[in-house]
Amino acid sequence: MKTKEKLLTLFEKNKGVYFSGEEIAEKLSVSRTAVWKAVNSLRKEGYKIHAVQNKGYCLASDTDILSVQGIQKYLESACSQIKLTVLPAAASTNALLREEAAAGAPEGCVLIAGSQTNGRGRTGRSFYSPPDTGLYMSLLLRPSRCPAQKAKKYTVMAAVAACHAIESFSDKKPLIKWVNDIYMDGKKVSGILTEASVGLEDGFLDYVILGIGINVYSPRGGFPDELKDRAGAVFSEAIDDGKNRLAAAFLNCFMALCQSPENHFYKEDYRKRSFLIGKEILVLLPEGTKKASALDVDEDCRLIVRYEDGTIAALDSGEVRTQEKCPHIQTE
Ligand code: BTN
Repeated sequence: MKTKEKLLTLFEKNKGVYFSGEEIAEKLSVSRTAVWKAVNSLRKEGYKIHAVQNKGYCLASDTDILSVQGIQKYLESACSQIKLTVLPAAASTNALLREEAAAGAPEGCVLIAGSQTNGRGRTGRSFYSPPDTGLYMSLLLRPSRCPAQKAKKYTVMAAVAACHAIESFSDKKPLIKWVNDIYMDGKKVSGILTEASVGLEDGFLDYVILGIGINVYSPRGGFPDELKDRAGAVFSEAIDDGKNRLAAAFLNCFMALCQSPENHFYKEDYRKRSFLIGKEILVLLPEGTKKASALDVDEDCRLIVRYEDGTIAALDSGEVRTQEKCPHIQTE
């Protein structure tokens, strides 16, 4: 580990605590010059490090920069196999991790970026990923002998894990808009994109990339015009170490769910959090858009709808919208 990384580990574990240059040098087994260089290098990355004569250096308590060290200190035993990488920025964490997966990266690799220039959403859309205020994360899973059609369970587990993670810091109850969006106060605060590679011969999953983007805070200057009516943020004001803690809380919950898949409570939790049940919706089908009522979410996490002609359907995947958000859409 580089001196800078060792120093960040020490600082992140002891935020607000002063260490003299000499003390740090001794703890890290490096020279005082190396300590000074590492402090400067962290400052260049945006870390607020106080320096006070006769006291030494300390990482400001209100620092919240995503980092391996900042997240790792909150991880629980379910995450022991995780290999975490945090980048200040990436084009798309899903795309990058996919490349690594294709090159043989093992299960448990997690890639987090502070911003994305080409964040990917479902159905070819983009995911707005500005710096400093969001969490953009992808996890690599390699389930053993798992049929491709079962991949949806990872999206469901991730949605439930995101809700639990948010609830550990907020009094509000996040809801899930089938299949993969998290809503708070009627606005989308998080989206999930699950991508997979499937063995052509056996139809089993080769690997799964589970990508989640969370608007932890509102972007500086607000959301762009085209999103501001629909997009929201988890927190309206800064919470202590919010991004690092939320990342760890999500990973703790998601990994625990993955490790006990026979425990089906998450499916009931998913249903109870439905944003859609009881609402009038639009179902976007290849043959056109149809009006429907969302009736329920069944034990396989399918959305049960009743179309205007009275037909009942169980949707396994797809795209739906609430009607009040898009009254202009033409239906058949
Ligand atoms: C959606 O809302 O349609 C899904 C959004 C998924 C966004 C996340 S951010 C991390 C990961 N990397 C990506 O490029 N996309 C996912």
